[in-house]
Amino acid sequence: MYLTKFDIRIIIFIMKYTAREVKEIFLNFFQKNNHKKIKNSSIIPENDDSLLFINAGMAPIKNVFTGEQIPESKKMCNIQTCIRTNDIDSIGDMHHLSSFCMLGSWSIGDYFKEGAIKLAYDFLVNELKIPKKKLYVTVFSGDSKRNLPADEESEGLWQEVGVEKSHIVRKPFEDNFWRMGEGESPCGPCTEVFFDTENEKIKSYEETGFFDDKNRYIEIWNAGVFMQYLQHEDGTYSKLKMNSVDTGAGMERMIMALNNFKSVYESEIFMPIIQLIKNNVPNCNEKSLRIIVDHIRSSVYIINAGVEAGNLKRGYILRQLLRRAIRHLKSIGANETLLQNIARSTIENLDKCGLNPDWAFTKEEIIQKITSEQEKFSKLLVSGLKTFEEFIANKNNIKNGKINSALVFKLYDTFGFPFEITKELANEKGLKVDDKEFNELFDQHKNISKGETGKVFKSGLADVSEQTIKLHTATHLLHSALKKVLGENVNQKGSNITPERLRFDFNFERKLTDDELMQVENLVNNLIEKNLAVICEEMDYEKAKKSGAIGLFQNKYGDKVRVYSIGEYSKELCSGPHVENTKALGKFKITKEESSSAGVRRIKAILQ
Ligand code: ALA
Repeated sequence: MYLTKFDIRIIIFIMKYTAREVKEIFLNFFQKNNHKKIKNSSIIPENDDSLLFINAGMAPIKNVFTGEQIPESKKMCNIQTCIRTNDIDSIGDMHHLSSFCMLGSWSIGDYFKEGAIKLAYDFLVNELKIPKKKLYVTVFSGDSKRNLPADEESEGLWQEVGVEKSHIVRKPFEDNFWRMGEGESPCGPCTEVFFDTENEKIKSYEETGFFDDKNRYIEIWNAGVFMQYLQHEDGTYSKLKMNSVDTGAGMERMIMALNNFKSVYESEIFMPIIQLIKNNVPNCNEKSLRIIVDHIRSSVYIINAGVEAGNLKRGYILRQLLRRAIRHLKSIGANETLLQNIARSTIENLDKCGLNPDWAFTKEEIIQKITSEQEKFSKLLVSGLKTFEEFIANKNNIKNGKINSALVFKLYDTFGFPFEITKELANEKGLKVDDKEFNELFDQHKNISKGETGKVFKSGLADVSEQTIKLHTATHLLHSALKKVLGENVNQKGSNITPERLRFDFNFERKLTDDELMQVENLVNNLIEKNLAVICEEMDYEKAKKSGAIGLFQNKYGDKVRVYSIGEYSKELCSGPHVENTKALGKFKITKEESSSAGVRRIKAILQ
């Protein structure tokens, strides 16, 4: 069946719950219960090298659980855009997504298990009116190896509020003990709420004792991570100073449950894009459609955050999402230009649904970045697919159903196939690939960027990739432009540079006007266009001071220091590294100006 735009509008009109409504109901409920609404942070973590993307509402505020940071309020809530690609293989089923909005609420040293469970039940049953019989909850069964007790308290509390014992499932460490990852992280047992889709093909938990959380019960809310412990790098735990609660619900899944949809893709967030593809490509398979719309939406978020597709870290995740979407478009027989229409529709629809980020780029700029990755990959895709087919046609290349890893690596290295694409191609042929062997080959061949080691570099650089170095030089130009526009007493207070953006803090009492920001931006671009050489000189500390170089003079008398000059416009004490000439920089663009702390402003900028 083909739906027209008019049909889609009618469907949205009769939908019980849209994204806008669910967000509003959630925030109203928690605000009514004295939770302060806090902002949606950027998907790129600030001052946190342990994560590539914000993957949960608590990630931007993780230090409040350990007491290192004072929270805005003891009870908070928000809606946070998250990126999670660790279960990319599951995308295409009814409820996994690589980006989603997390409805989050927190108690920092305030209420604990009882308060959290009462609020969760009240919200689901009284506010959203979900029938009680549709809800199941899981609780932590304990882990003797790790010396962690079972969460019997939560089990009792759920029964007190009204959940039947037969709807409570005990789950082990892997499922019901939440932490941000393997590194240091506040953590604790959690209790999750599942929605019964009543999929008639799957017998109920009561009938079989098997809780099928893939095909029948879908998790709609981690209704309480009971933050009690700090996980250390060595895998041990210590008690946190205070008990806190961290909750998070995937908005898209909540919408699915509330509207009794069969998948998250039936909502107004994805349906118009799916329909656009169906109108252009008859008889395409559902899984490909889902992968395409999910991956393009996440790519739009990631590109807008300033990430460029590449082979490292965030850039690689973006590349993987885009290339996988491109391969699925090819597999359903779509015309290459359809990708631009999908991207356009995705961006426009994010606006319509109220799920848009603060746009840092125009629609056309984002589409252009997607197109440029498509141009790089399309030809390689055709020859790579041919190579793959030829290779697997030879039985000698397959042992025990596993493809020789040299091919998997060749497809990556020569044809730009992210590992996940080859894995998927292999699975479609009933074959396997070996990720361990692939990683070994990868390690042997890769020219490791030092940034990959996770080491922190001098001068506030997250790594020493080409883009980071360019942004570092741009920071010097920005520093000098700020002095010109705002006054010589403006000085650097901090700086942090990743391959995606620069962040620069400086002393200034008030918000910059649009006009001042434009002047600063223009000044930096004028300097870039002058093709100025960047010169490094080593000199005595005293001499550097006398030369008029700016920067943090923390060295001792007698030390040798480096001074970087850019034409006659900038002279800074700095340990580098920098580009050789400003012509390498491209176009400088300020994406944000905000307060950093009292009397300190913060500018974020990118190079295009
Ligand atoms: N941080 C918890 C989660 O992501 C709520 O599931």
